[in-house]
Amino acid sequence: MTNQPRPQADVPPAPELFTWEFATDPYPAYAWLREHAPVHRTELPSGVEAWLVTRYADAKEALADQRLSKNPAHHDEPAHARGKTGIPGERKAELMTHLLNIDPPDHTRLRRLVSKAFTPRRVAEFAPRVQELTDRLLDRFAGEGEADLIHDFAFPLPIYAICDLLGVPREDQDDFRDWAGMMIRHGGGPRGGVARSVKKMRGYLLELIHRKRAELPARPAPGEDLISGLIRASDHGEHLTENEAAAMAFILLFAGFETTVNLIGNGAYALLTHPEQRARLQRSLTEDGGDHSLLETGIEELLRYDGPVELATWRYATEPLRIGGQDIAPGDPVLVVLAAADRDPARFTDPDALDLSRRDNQHLGYGHGIHYCLGAPLARLEGRTALATLLTRLPDLRLAANPAELRWRGGLIMRGLRTLPVQFAP
Ligand code: HEM
Repeated sequence: MTNQPRPQADVPPAPELFTWEFATDPYPAYAWLREHAPVHRTELPSGVEAWLVTRYADAKEALADQRLSKNPAHHDEPAHARGKTGIPGERKAELMTHLLNIDPPDHTRLRRLVSKAFTPRRVAEFAPRVQELTDRLLDRFAGEGEADLIHDFAFPLPIYAICDLLGVPREDQDDFRDWAGMMIRHGGGPRGGVARSVKKMRGYLLELIHRKRAELPARPAPGEDLISGLIRASDHGEHLTENEAAAMAFILLFAGFETTVNLIGNGAYALLTHPEQRARLQRSLTEDGGDHSLLETGIEELLRYDGPVELATWRYATEPLRIGGQDIAPGDPVLVVLAAADRDPARFTDPDALDLSRRDNQHLGYGHGIHYCLGAPLARLEGRTALATLLTRLPDLRLAANPAELRWRGGLIMRGLRTLPVQFAP
């Protein structure tokens, strides 16, 4: 039994999903689904059938429901679709034991260990470095009068930031940028290139971890890097193995890279297309003596309004269950549509409006429950620094393309622009 939409005289026809129009603006389709088929079974472009959960209340419940496993072994996948379940496809085999692919008790143990090393304090201490990186990237194009904000700014900032935080030496960071670029550009495309990049990254990380472990001083030095912190972290005498530490470093890169590119890209785009909101923010950062409270609520609102993660990562039913009155069978994949939930009028007042000062804003952009984003403090720091620096250093920043002509990267999980051409006074 499914709740496939039934044709009704007064109901507008079901929208087509995963088309070019949908990638450009999926929100009208999500509004239709929320209203007419809130838990909707659909065939994904890969051929896999999955349930889309679109209402806020159902989404929040599903994210916290431990009968929905993160372990792809629970997926009762038809043979023709095997290996096509999105992230990270064949890459799963190599770096399998990461947080987004496992359930308790393994998840609890690994998350506790990484949380000891990746602390909000470590992120706060990293703030000056993020500012320095941001300024350095801006310096490169500020005199030009034009730029592609994705290529020149949103893309390099998170990869250099996470490399620095992990302790990847500067001279190796451009390799990481290239491997990450391959993954982001071809996430759903030529597997060979992506698989090679992942293999190189894994080999590099294993070697780096091995070297750092051999050289680890007895006591942590101030400002010690995160990989050393991961090696050092212990819980009841237990440590991460080198393979686990490599998988952890990889998931930090993987989960913290494209997401943050999109936070900066989608965020800048939303500001450029909402001049009143942008002017308010700009005034608050400059004229009001640098009041950053609008920036703080604003980043959360940009996440809600057009967040980087359109669909939460894969979940699989481990037993028969019901979501929003819909029966879900064991083995069925369930995709929680964060972008739809965060525009649900049953939860948010005037949900399609961008309101940077929105306070009642418990959006699901970072997920919910035990897999809640581990990197949220870092993402907030990077988002705040990037957008505030852009608006203050390039005060007349403007879009140099017709919004209808902008291309969105068509991945299943993430939502982000391919390019964001801008102009400004040099
Ligand atoms: C998990 C969003 C940045 C590391 C998640 C989840 C979401 C999310 C929605 C949960 C996925 C699910 O339940 O299926 C975001 C957004 C970001 C961002 C919107 C940027 C704006 C980062 C950064 C890092 C990071 C910068 C680390 C450097 C992680 C990790 C998990 C995760 C490790 C898995 C946690 C677990 O399974 O316990 N993120 N993320 N994220 N995120 Fe983020």
